[in-house]
Amino acid sequence: MIIAIDGPAGSGKSTVARMLAKRLGFWYLDTGAMYRALTWKAMQMGVKLEDENALCSLMDETTIEFQGKDENLRVFVDGHNVTKEIRLPSITNNIHYISNKPGVRQRMVKLQQKLAAEGNTVAEGRDMGTVVFPNAERKFFLDADIEERAKRRYAEFKPSHKEVFYADVIKDIETRDRRDTTRNNSPLVKGRDAIYINTTKLTIDEVFNMMLKEIESVGHT
Ligand code: DC
Repeated sequence: MIIAIDGPAGSGKSTVARMLAKRLGFWYLDTGAMYRALTWKAMQMGVKLEDENALCSLMDETTIEFQGKDENLRVFVDGHNVTKEIRLPSITNNIHYISNKPGVRQRMVKLQQKLAAEGNTVAEGRDMGTVVFPNAERKFFLDADIEERAKRRYAEFKPSHKEVFYADVIKDIETRDRRDTTRNNSPLVKGRDAIYINTTKLTIDEVFNMMLKEIESVGHT
């Protein structure tokens, strides 16, 4: 069984995906981490981020793996633990070079499908329900007002990055929204068969319970 969760940055999808995976005993597939991992490697190797052929070859010779489950998920590139490094702003700001290349996306999709074939999976990203898992048993699209998403990100960053400003966080989210929704390849869109949840005024537990109810009803539909 596959649960597909898509949505913009700060919509709450990672938190709730981990919670659902834990509750259901499913694997948690963080596909954003995979694009982050390849961006990390390309930057380490000094590969030109505009060069699609070089990025495709890089992907072909790179091993991206996960270890652990839900909140203990760790990401490895060629055996090197990159879980923390791939969250750095320098990576986040450059992912769009990687994620808009059709050849890279094709390879990522194949790998994501292969990983999900190992067992029941909660898959989270931008194109889970629309491209990667069109036959997922349940599809969700999580959203929230941009101010609320920026507030959540700011609260997350502030304790470890004292110098962070709310105005910068909201600007970054606006830029990512624009890049994610306007790229030619697999842009972030709500699929017609996805259940839309606006999380702006909901607690994470409320979102979790709504989704769990929908998932538990799969057998009865
Ligand atoms: O979910 P995240 O913030 O870790 O994702 C980082 C970036 O990766 C996001 O801005 C767009 C890209 N991404 C993508 O293009 N397709 C996915 N399925 C997941 C992420």
